[in-house]
Amino acid sequence: MANGLKIENLSKSFLTADRRPLSVLEDICLTVDNSEFVTIVGHSGCGKSTLLKIIAGLEAADSGGVSVDGRPCNAPGPDRGMIFQEHRLLPWLTIEQNVTLGLEGVPRREKAEISGHYLKLVRLDGFGKAYPSELSGGMSQRAAIARALATQPQLLLLDEPFGALDALTKIEMQKEILNIRRNSNNTMLMVTHDIEEAVYLSDRVVVMSSRPGRIKEIVKIELAESRNRGSADFAWYKQRILLHFFDEDEESRPEFSI
Ligand SMILES: Nc1ncnc2c1ncn2[C@@H]1O[C@H](COP(=O)(O)OP(=O)(O)OP(=O)(O)O)[C@@H](O)[C@H]1O
Ligand SMILES: [Mg+2]
Repeated sequence: MANGLKIENLSKSFLTADRRPLSVLEDICLTVDNSEFVTIVGHSGCGKSTLLKIIAGLEAADSGGVSVDGRPCNAPGPDRGMIFQEHRLLPWLTIEQNVTLGLEGVPRREKAEISGHYLKLVRLDGFGKAYPSELSGGMSQRAAIARALATQPQLLLLDEPFGALDALTKIEMQKEILNIRRNSNNTMLMVTHDIEEAVYLSDRVVVMSSRPGRIKEIVKIELAESRNRGSADFAWYKQRILLHFFDEDEESRPEFSI
């Protein structure tokens, strides 16, 4: 049986307002092994969110296929959790109720245990009875991560999860994600515009071309698990990814060399 996420020859287009087809993703092929952390970077509008939505089963591909452990991803399922740029917590529910939203049919006591476990994992123990309006941006995003983890998805899809956070909170959240990964062993596929974040977190970084999005390059990050953002090796990977990012457009290529 195929293990992990498998994307095969996936293409997708949308119709524009004046009814013209807009090719967004072209012939995407990618496999993500179980427990692997892969990040996708690419210019705005190249189809990254569309790709995650197709994997989550929220959007249909025109051709090609997506499967997790051999199971096709044609509709949303508990094996895939998604975290969006904005936390999307329901303001009228407590944090505990938000976290357990996806646990239909689970007895109340078990729900409380599950929410307690995941709120502790994201360092929000004690906030179960609070409402989203009582939490800061970083805390709300941690609650959204707890909600996505509560259904114990095999694959976690993260669409710019820290894009709206300030620089320091973002660094804390990145550490949090590494911590969660060590404790839960999830497979993670993340979209980010932050190349430093990609190098800090990933086993591999996928660089996409401008729309229609194609995979241009996959960079394997061969750094120790505990990464030093100030090291020369770290900077080398950042530059390498930036060069792949800009080589389609010599005009906008930044002035630096590896
Ligand atoms: N439901 C839709 N109907 C029509 N066009 C769409 C739809 N969803 C996305 N698009 C178009 O598809 C293209 C890719 O959108 P997508 O949101 O996947 O880009 P992205 O790579 O995530 O960009 P960003 O980095 O800015 O978030 C864009 O041109 C967008 O306008
Ligand atoms: Mg997007």
